[in-house]
Amino acid sequence: MTPAPISRRRAIILGGLGAASLAAGGTGWIAAGPGVGTSRLEPADTGAELHQPPVLDSRDGRLQVELTAAAGARLGGVDTQALGFNGTSPGPTLRVRAGDELEVRLTNRLDKPTNLHTHGLRVSPQANSDNPFLRIDPGTSFDYRYRIPPDHPAGTFWYHPHHHGMVADQVFGGLAGALLVDPPLGNGPDLPVVEDRVLLVTDTTLDADGHLLEASAMDRAMGRQGELVLVNGQHQPTIPAAPGATQRWRIINGCVSRVLPIRLDGHDLIQVAHDGTFLPAPATKDRVLLAPGNRADVIVRPTGTGRYPLIADAVDRGGMEGMMGGNIAASGPVTLATLVTDGPSVTAPPLPATLPAEKTGGGPTTARRQITFQMGMSGSGMGGMAFTIDGRTFDPARDDQTVQLGTTEEWTINNPSPLAHPFHLHVWPFTVLATSDGARPVGVPQDVVLVPARGWARLRIPFTEHDGRSVYHCHILDHEDAGMMATINVRG
Ligand code: C2O
Ligand code: CU
Repeated sequence: MTPAPISRRRAIILGGLGAASLAAGGTGWIAAGPGVGTSRLEPADTGAELHQPPVLDSRDGRLQVELTAAAGARLGGVDTQALGFNGTSPGPTLRVRAGDELEVRLTNRLDKPTNLHTHGLRVSPQANSDNPFLRIDPGTSFDYRYRIPPDHPAGTFWYHPHHHGMVADQVFGGLAGALLVDPPLGNGPDLPVVEDRVLLVTDTTLDADGHLLEASAMDRAMGRQGELVLVNGQHQPTIPAAPGATQRWRIINGCVSRVLPIRLDGHDLIQVAHDGTFLPAPATKDRVLLAPGNRADVIVRPTGTGRYPLIADAVDRGGMEGMMGGNIAASGPVTLATLVTDGPSVTAPPLPATLPAEKTGGGPTTARRQITFQMGMSGSGMGGMAFTIDGRTFDPARDDQTVQLGTTEEWTINNPSPLAHPFHLHVWPFTVLATSDGARPVGVPQDVVLVPARGWARLRIPFTEHDGRSVYHCHILDHEDAGMMATINVRG
């Protein structure tokens, strides 16, 4: 039964109250909004059960896939002008094992150049592997081939376009997908989970015709935040569970700029992995903080029966108060999804006391470097601002850091600016030693760290594997596109 359009529309304009139940039986999206020029496409399938993106699994040591990037993706169950891989946003989940070969034929049916980054994978940055300097023009295809080392950590990674200047638009448009590395057979920890789910969080804004909204100069300067926050392309889906039935949620922050402090109403989150590597032991937390690009694998053990929202708490990424009469780098709390528990209780089996955390690699520190993120006024630039690292905007032809393969370095990322910037380094994960806000470091290698506003983060980076050139940058993708990115050349 489809409810009358007028009541559905009203229910959605009125917000959460009642909208979920009314819309649960419907499909499609509804134009709603305060007035001419500001109307938006809003999801009508709010509250539908969470789907998993299609999974493409490796066999006999290899996974061969074709990914076509194009506009006209299905999002929230219906056709929009959002971007997708193979017609959906997110794209398929790629699932490989350590030691596998991953081959991706990327076809560009967009109207702008693109390419592909395997975020967090420890693979070669050269040639047709995880090479961020490649440019795949509209109407062309490119064959990527990634050799995943046999000792690669088993965990949650993701892929997204990385062509400088277009990254924020393309990820905001919907181009992202999960990339899971499984342990070699029989080598993983024994996690007693009955469901293993990907929760890829993205945000976007679509106008009433289903077209992507252009970001303003100020949106780009602060890092755009979409009005719709989606999980696997769905708006506030429900996640069914039996009380006690243990689930593993692989939460990926695929938002362009949003920082997600995530909590589950009425439950602790038991974190087992961060950025694709296991913690030494399950860690019980009331909140898990994910900067753009970060991932957390959490164990959820539903208690009782009821509805428990998964919430991204309000966050202030830094003070730009006084500009434009408000702080647009702040965001209110958002409901990502709702855990719905029902049925007879099952007894949750115990979790392992320890997990196969990685040993900290590398040797003694051979060099220390200072890296500085800056936002400054400029005559031209985005919204009259320049986004630089060490005073320079991105130049793919310049080597900004040269490092000897096999060494271990300590980098301090300075951020004198009034906005927090997430630092991301490709290929070579780092351990956070300390941050200026005194937060307790995760303790295992990671690939994105939020550098506090007017603060710093100190990192230990073992360059033990993979030579070649790659990049480090701010993972507020609007900042990266504006030039807050630099190159690193690791010489073998
Ligand atoms: Cu997730 Cu260089 O990016
Ligand atoms: Cu930034």
